[in-house]
Amino acid sequence: MRRNPFVIKDAVPPDKFFDRDEILSDFRRALDRGTRDFLWAFVAPLRFGKTSILLKLAAIADEYPDIIPVFLNCSEPLPVKRTLANLCSSLTKKFRVEREQVNVLWREYTRLVESRLYTLSEFFDKIWDVLESVDAHLMLFLDEFQELPEPLRQEVPSLQGLSDEQVFKVLRAVFGSPRARVGLVVSGSVIGKLLDALDVWNGRFLEFHLGPFDKESAIAMMRALFREGGLDVPDDVIEQIVEMCGAHPYYLQLMGHQIYELGSWDHESINLARERVWDAIFHYFYRLYSAVRARGSDYIKLLHMAARDELTYDVVAGFSDRLYLKLQELVRMGVIRMGERSYEIPDPLFKRYVQTIPTFGERPPSSIIICTDAEQEVAFAVHREGFAVLHVRYSRGPFDIYACPRDEKGIPRTTELVGIQVKFRSADVLYLREEEIRKILEAQKKYGVIPVIAFVRGRGLINFFAEVKTKYVFGEGSPSLRECLIKRGIKL
Ligand SMILES: Nc1ncnc2c1ncn2[C@@H]1O[C@H](COP(=O)(O)OP(=O)(O)OP(=O)(O)O)[C@@H](O)[C@H]1O
Ligand SMILES: [Mg+2]
Repeated sequence: MRRNPFVIKDAVPPDKFFDRDEILSDFRRALDRGTRDFLWAFVAPLRFGKTSILLKLAAIADEYPDIIPVFLNCSEPLPVKRTLANLCSSLTKKFRVEREQVNVLWREYTRLVESRLYTLSEFFDKIWDVLESVDAHLMLFLDEFQELPEPLRQEVPSLQGLSDEQVFKVLRAVFGSPRARVGLVVSGSVIGKLLDALDVWNGRFLEFHLGPFDKESAIAMMRALFREGGLDVPDDVIEQIVEMCGAHPYYLQLMGHQIYELGSWDHESINLARERVWDAIFHYFYRLYSAVRARGSDYIKLLHMAARDELTYDVVAGFSDRLYLKLQELVRMGVIRMGERSYEIPDPLFKRYVQTIPTFGERPPSSIIICTDAEQEVAFAVHREGFAVLHVRYSRGPFDIYACPRDEKGIPRTTELVGIQVKFRSADVLYLREEEIRKILEAQKKYGVIPVIAFVRGRGLINFFAEVKTKYVFGEGSPSLRECLIKRGIKL
């Protein structure tokens, strides 16, 4: 069997990097123009691809003969030593610098880590000397940049006792000196702390706030990875997966990984994959929501407003200072960011999660988080009618949503399962293929699921049909699930 082509652990290697085309071409263009003193920062909450993009940009920088890219995770110990090791190996390999010159740098390093009197700026002056002699430039790719002060203080005695802010000021002076031959491309997921670090540079960093992929690239990635793994998933299914994952790179990869493991993309496999993705991310969402909630009711109100797209700049302009500061705290937490027209929730699935809480509570079923817009529409409608919407782990056959009636105590009667196949069409006629019909009838017979087709034409436009046939006309069904079941003599 082939290896699973989806990457769900750590950053993607540069040759498996997708999307972010605009950033990559801006970077190349700047390099081609001769820019070397980059001050770029990638700001995003967890798993948006910060480390991946740093690695990709480092690989691009490496194509330029005068650049020495060095990638560092700043939360690990000995950052200067690791930088120097990388730098020296490039100096000897890429620039054929004499061993002796490199050894000089190592002796300087010994002084740096042994003496309180020898400063970082003096040490880097020696580095600039060597770089100047071969006309090379250092480009530092610093992941989790906000964490740098601690390991740096541990390593360099002259920095001991300084606050984080003071350490960053030292760095600004070292890297901002007219002799410096360095570019900085940094990233971080602890947004508040990272923004504090960048503030030391007085707005000179160019900030990139990573969001989900654009839809076309998301589709292209899934197509390429499924193809690489030899699984021939049709385009309409890929489009649905992209919608279910909100085109978020990590959720896409997780979903792809699961589907690939299952080896099939039929309804049951997709549902199982959704359930597993939900299991993997649910606790993170729950904790994030709880963290906001623990701060107080205003914060939760703001979060729900953001989920309903109500935090437009006009509205926020009318906020009291106190409410505005609370909003800024949420920005620093990374749960909200400044979008084009409004403050928004950057994580598309967390946004869906927050949207569903007033109706479904803090443990909403997977089927209304990792789902298409049409499925969510149907789930809400069915719930409003008093049915329980179930986790897709109830998956039996070719349905997207499973619902059941509740008993007098409100407990779902899962023995009476309604399987709903959701179809979105902008036209007013919907056709089912023979193959689809066969599968639906099979599931009805095998599991006793009551099959229903929900024909969705747009927001609030749903027709339910409790009959399985080849052609459905919008308007001939019922806007209510209960009513459509009663019409067919099914009473739940
Ligand atoms: N450009 C990309 N192309 C394909 N997959 C990506 C890309 N960027 C991110 N991913 C997916 O997201 C996952 C996380 O990527 P990465 O580690 O780069 O994110 P991060 O923002 O650095 O995360 P963290 O906040 O945990 O440090 C990867 O394992 C991969 O599944
Ligand atoms: Mg990372």
